[in-house]
Amino acid sequence: MLVDTITRYQQRVDSQLEKIFDNQTVTDPKLLAAMKHGALLGGKRIRPFLVYAIGDMLSIPLKQLDSSAAAIECVHAYSLIHDDLPAMDDDALRRGQPTVHVAFDEAAAILAGDALQALAFEVMCEPIDEIAPRQNLAMVRALAKASGYSGMCGGQAMDLSATNKPIDLATLSQLHKLKTGALIRCAVELPMIAAQVSQEEQTLLMEFADAIGLAFQVQDDVLDIISSTDELGKPQGSDCESNKSTYPQLLGLMGAQATAKSLIEDALSALTKLPYNSQLIAEFARYIIERRV
Ligand code: IPE
Ligand code: IPE
Ligand code: MG
Ligand code: MG
Ligand code: MG
Repeated sequence: MLVDTITRYQQRVDSQLEKIFDNQTVTDPKLLAAMKHGALLGGKRIRPFLVYAIGDMLSIPLKQLDSSAAAIECVHAYSLIHDDLPAMDDDALRRGQPTVHVAFDEAAAILAGDALQALAFEVMCEPIDEIAPRQNLAMVRALAKASGYSGMCGGQAMDLSATNKPIDLATLSQLHKLKTGALIRCAVELPMIAAQVSQEEQTLLMEFADAIGLAFQVQDDVLDIISSTDELGKPQGSDCESNKSTYPQLLGLMGAQATAKSLIEDALSALTKLPYNSQLIAEFARYIIERRV
């Protein structure tokens, strides 16, 4: 059930993204090609999956979730393009393809990231049927916060400061919660805002989202060690080579795996307290630590 739904939501967000790119007036074809390279070629689409799956669980029609799913993937694609730049992780392979700065050049990669971020907010600001402008605005704000200084960018800056330098577990957990957790949390928050659930349910959904967000990055660190470049579509061993602060580096491989498992147990326990059919979401939570990619 999970694999089929992941595929269905992947196809749905991909067709949204293709439509969005097709509707762009061409200014500089090279820039548009770089944006498409970063956004359309591969990727698991787990953030759009969460937007759709959580929204569906909360009885929001998928059509009302399309802009959120596409926008969050644009921000994610931009974060990866910039993450791979020589000034950051300096990686040459992403999603089984040359990274954007390798396939094009550094300036194109910087601008493609910038333009994808702006595009995300353009898409996010489109009025959504049945969603009040006040809610739509709250959704735009949530995406902005998750992307910027208090979210992904802040975490990426902490990641760079923690390179070639030992840090404690509390700092590492904060860094991971921001660089990766913030956007994953946002993927749960967007449908949650659309659905206007109770305060109590909001707390449980955010507990769930925080736990899977951190677990996702811990597993990403684990995969850097146990997976392969072929499977990952990005260079295996990149963290070790760059002397990054990661969970396995701090806790050992088994310690990191145990942490990820216990985070998923926390996530599942928050889910069971919610009055919805959360079977698919629970399956997805388990997949986060079982995945090889
Ligand atoms: C990779 O994200 C970077 C992290 C935030 C851990 P994903 O593992 O979601 O990458 P894609 O989108 O599937 O390529
Ligand atoms: C990336 O973390 C997080 C963001 C892109 C915001 P990593 O640097 O670990 O991601 P990968 O391993 O290159 O995908
Ligand atoms: Mg990085
Ligand atoms: Mg990286
Ligand atoms: Mg990584």
